[in-house]
Amino acid sequence: MTQFQTYIFLVAVMLIALTSCTPKPTISVPAEFESGQNHFHRVCANCHGADALGKQTRAPGLIDPEYLFENFSDEEMYKQIVEGSDKMPPQRNKLSDPEVAEIIKYIRYSQNSANLIVGEDESDDDEDE
Ligand code: HEC
Repeated sequence: MTQFQTYIFLVAVMLIALTSCTPKPTISVPAEFESGQNHFHRVCANCHGADALGKQTRAPGLIDPEYLFENFSDEEMYKQIVEGSDKMPPQRNKLSDPEVAEIIKYIRYSQNSANLIVGEDESDDDEDE
């Protein structure tokens, strides 16, 4: 490589590093939830974290009893995504309605597979079976 080519190469590497800081999914999901997972990671994961777990992010993790269907319905979820809130900007311009539906489906699947229990805020050690 000439010096100039090396320079171009380094700049390209830096640009790629800068633009790829969006969190990537770490959990694989069944094929029917993959499109929701992709949309989630394109639009939401920057704030809500990889796999919606919200670790070290500015927005809450959504794999949490607080956001299960019983506490936070699909309609509320839809409204939150499309209209936003004081602290969350609306995401309407980044997603079509079917894409929002895919994201909600993906979040529900992730919540279910995490075995969350409704109505339990603090972690309870003794599980009665
Ligand atoms: C720019 C950052 C950002 C993006 C992008 C973002 N959110 Fe949020 N979201 C937030 C913040 C911050 C809050 C906390 C808002 C609050 O406490 O009022 C939040 C709250 C929420 C809540 C909980 C609302 C409540 O009342 O407790 C849900 C559900 C949610 N977001 C879903 C999503 C989904 C799904 C996406 C992608 C389509 C998304 N968010 C994209 C920042 C973001």
